[in-house]
Amino acid sequence: MSAVYRVRQFLAALRARVEPGELQVLDRYLDSAQKELFVAMELQDQRHSLNVFYQLSEAGHDDRELLQAALLHDVGKARAGLGICHRVAIVLLRAIRPGLVRGIGSADRRSWRNPFWVHQHHGQLGAELVARRGGSKKLVELVRHHQHPSAEPLAQALYRADGEN
Ligand SMILES: [Fe+2]
Ligand SMILES: [Fe+2]
Repeated sequence: MSAVYRVRQFLAALRARVEPGELQVLDRYLDSAQKELFVAMELQDQRHSLNVFYQLSEAGHDDRELLQAALLHDVGKARAGLGICHRVAIVLLRAIRPGLVRGIGSADRRSWRNPFWVHQHHGQLGAELVARRGGSKKLVELVRHHQHPSAEPLAQALYRADGEN
């Protein structure tokens, strides 16, 4: 994906909105514990997740856990404290050289570099959150591997829709 596309995507995310009516979709697919995870995300991540959900459902996907994963795949970012500066840095570093972001992260929660680590590991962290709230094994695995999916068709569908939103 080109750097220009990534930057444009990022700028659009800054203007993200979620209409109150859209949250009704959550009642159909998420239980109350899962809904708490969704609304704990930054608005731009909520917007992104809803867009991934719409894309998959409009393409005819009706697998319940896939659609739940669309809504919850990025919940691991919520505890990151990913401020605007981190997000800008991640977009720019990725555009320059994707490996740079990996080198910066630190697992130490007190470190200024921790948000980069959380961002890098948000699939795993999100999977743990979803598992703790009773998500099915299939849902947990879709969330865990959404950045590096298996060849399994649902995992691939999520990966594609994620990349396009
Ligand atoms: Fe993600
Ligand atoms: Fe995502």
